[in-house]
Amino acid sequence: MPVHMTNERWHATCEYLDDVFGRADDQLRTLMPRAVEAGIPDIAVSPSVGRLLTLLAKTANVRTAVELGTLAGYSGIWIARGLAEGGRLITVEPEARHADFAAAEFIAAGVDERVEIRRGFGLEVLPVLVQELGAGSVGMVFLDAIKSEYPDYLPYATELLRPGGLLVADNSLGGGADWWIDDPKGSHESRDGADEFNRLVAESDEYDAANVPIREGVLIARKKG
Ligand SMILES: C[S@@+](CC[C@H](N)C(=O)[O-])C[C@H]1O[C@@H](n2cnc3c(N)ncnc32)[C@H](O)[C@@H]1O
Repeated sequence: MPVHMTNERWHATCEYLDDVFGRADDQLRTLMPRAVEAGIPDIAVSPSVGRLLTLLAKTANVRTAVELGTLAGYSGIWIARGLAEGGRLITVEPEARHADFAAAEFIAAGVDERVEIRRGFGLEVLPVLVQELGAGSVGMVFLDAIKSEYPDYLPYATELLRPGGLLVADNSLGGGADWWIDDPKGSHESRDGADEFNRLVAESDEYDAANVPIREGVLIARKKG
């Protein structure tokens, strides 16, 4: 953010983005408040990041998407709504309570036929997906699970993605009040994971990448080819 911009102005800017670009139907608008009521943490992407996910899926004509970190299904619904005709989203979640809540929301959103929840940990499910789906078969991978594991997710995501496929990662620049990317190295494992991941993708010959400072940062990279 420009040096003259205060935190207050940054928050107001994010609220503006959600207000103007984050229009959503009743189900999506009420999803996270209902999830929080059910004891699920309030850590979903914002409405304007959700709309960005739909836009990216549509732009890359994504038929198969993989998401790490389902939570309550909020980002998954935005992604599912951007999939090409006949497309599907495989979303990975180890917490049964989150997966159960999300499953009901996918039904309510009318996307359950195109969304499959894999209950498990990202680093266990990813190699299985490489075997099942095959290398170069996925149009979009959205990372939103354990930030310190982002560098470990990268080789699997790269193998899964087809040429022209999109690697998208939330929290590429920060995580609420806990950490921000300009904190000192070693101060938080999520900061260090995001920093290492950003640098790996930025320096990789396999991607054209940008980091969009919307909300807590969204890395967007297109696999070359
Ligand atoms: C930030 S939330 C995801 C938010 C969701 N993508 C959204 O925006 O609606 C992170 C989720 O990752 C899940 N998670 C935790 N460890 C994980 C792991 N090793 N692999 C995959 N998901 C994990 C958590 O249970 C939580 O539901």
